[in-house]
Amino acid sequence: MKNLFRYLPQLDATKYTDYFLNKFLVDSTFEEQLTKLTYARFTLSDLNTDTINELNKQLISILNFPPIDYALVFKHTVPQSIHIDGINPVRYASLNLPLIGYENTKMVFYTSKLTVNDIIPIDAFYFPQNKVEYCGELPGRNEWALINTSIPHQVVNCDFNNPRITICFRFRNNPSFENLANLIDHNTKC
Ligand SMILES: [Fe+2]
Repeated sequence: MKNLFRYLPQLDATKYTDYFLNKFLVDSTFEEQLTKLTYARFTLSDLNTDTINELNKQLISILNFPPIDYALVFKHTVPQSIHIDGINPVRYASLNLPLIGYENTKMVFYTSKLTVNDIIPIDAFYFPQNKVEYCGELPGRNEWALINTSIPHQVVNCDFNNPRITICFRFRNNPSFENLANLIDHNTKC
């Protein structure tokens, strides 16, 4: 089984969901950015709020993570194409929290004989459906999870009338999923 994701029960999903949905996104350029793309990007200066600084501190002190680098917020109304995140370089790991519209959705992961070297990237590396094999999935729930975005994946079962909104944090120096997963494993008490 590939190393696909890790849950982070140490982080409060309810509190942060309430903050991102009812405060951060409302006060931000989210809707304006979404008129051009299916996601919005937030830089460190956008993320300099008490609540996000608290999240950053928690990740650093509890899990020994590197600092947050930037965040993306996706609005999915249709299934994603199968992809690996990033272009140059590949973005290896993402800390995600589905905020709303996640019911019945899931993230599906795949293996492929193709590598990023075989694919010309657009805004990510896209894989044809007939060149991948299913290798696991993460149910769409309101839970923090670190995602291995360096292997082919897609969000599916989206509802056009109930968009799935997910906030995704990326970390300084683009650490590998394995590095961050090891930190979670070592710093999570059973
Ligand atoms: Fe992705």
